[in-house]
Amino acid sequence: MSAKIIDGKAISVMVNEETKARVEALKARGKQPGLAVILVGEDPASQVYVKAKAKKCEELGIFSDKRVLPADTTMEELLKLIDELNHDPKIHGILVQSPPPPQIDEEAVIAAIDPAKDVDCFHERNVGKLLIGKTDGFAPCTPYGVMVLLEKSGIDPAGKHAVIIGRSNIVGKPLAALLMQKTKGANATVTVVHSGTKNIAEYTRQADILIAAIGKPEFVTGDMIKPGATVIDVGINRTPNPDGGKDKLVGDVNFAQAVEVAGAITPVPGGVGPMTIAILMHNTVTACERA
Ligand code: GUN
Repeated sequence: MSAKIIDGKAISVMVNEETKARVEALKARGKQPGLAVILVGEDPASQVYVKAKAKKCEELGIFSDKRVLPADTTMEELLKLIDELNHDPKIHGILVQSPPPPQIDEEAVIAAIDPAKDVDCFHERNVGKLLIGKTDGFAPCTPYGVMVLLEKSGIDPAGKHAVIIGRSNIVGKPLAALLMQKTKGANATVTVVHSGTKNIAEYTRQADILIAAIGKPEFVTGDMIKPGATVIDVGINRTPNPDGGKDKLVGDVNFAQAVEVAGAITPVPGGVGPMTIAILMHNTVTACERA
């Protein structure tokens, strides 16, 4: 049997259309949402993401202010820029692309962003709101993108066992918080497995919804999946192309094996990836509507 493919690209188009309509309504009231994206250094993957974010802003009518800073930028310089953007009325969202170079204290940088402009939902105030179920903060881009993928695919997590592989602050932890909330579209029983877990497969085989977010190419093999389960692959791993040329993108799931066991599965690329940017745009517009 072959799993149903969850088309993240098509679902992101639906989300982006809603966002575009909200941008137009704001413009009719003389307001335009604005997003500042800061990249420190020249990490090639980060350059690709930052470019994609600026392009999507343009497509949706959001003002985008892309700041590419040299790799040797000091904390003082970066904090000064964030302070300026915090006070800039044209800017409603501020994002510092992660990971920054080693001289940058990422935690201190995130803490300096005005929580009302923290469209990544990385600031501790917004993370706290997320955990206690308050909706006046922001939904973190990738985890919330996963929730929307499930909802738009008709997969209700309520009463199901969701197993998340990975406990990162960007994906695993906030996704666990979202899935366990006592709300519509959530209410799952959540297990988080990680590098300290003994026999990960014992847990993954119990998952009705399995989410892989560890950054290890094709870590999840077919035998780790319960037949009929929903498999969400958050991984984006660049691996050398055996045919030469551009690096190949592979997920954290062995797709060829998983598609034969799962009931539904996201591909890489074209699954979770486009959703992350769609939610970032959605959050930027929300920040502007609130301002
Ligand atoms: N690096 C990988 N994912 C993200 C994200 O969602 N936001 C930021 N700022 N950096 C990232």
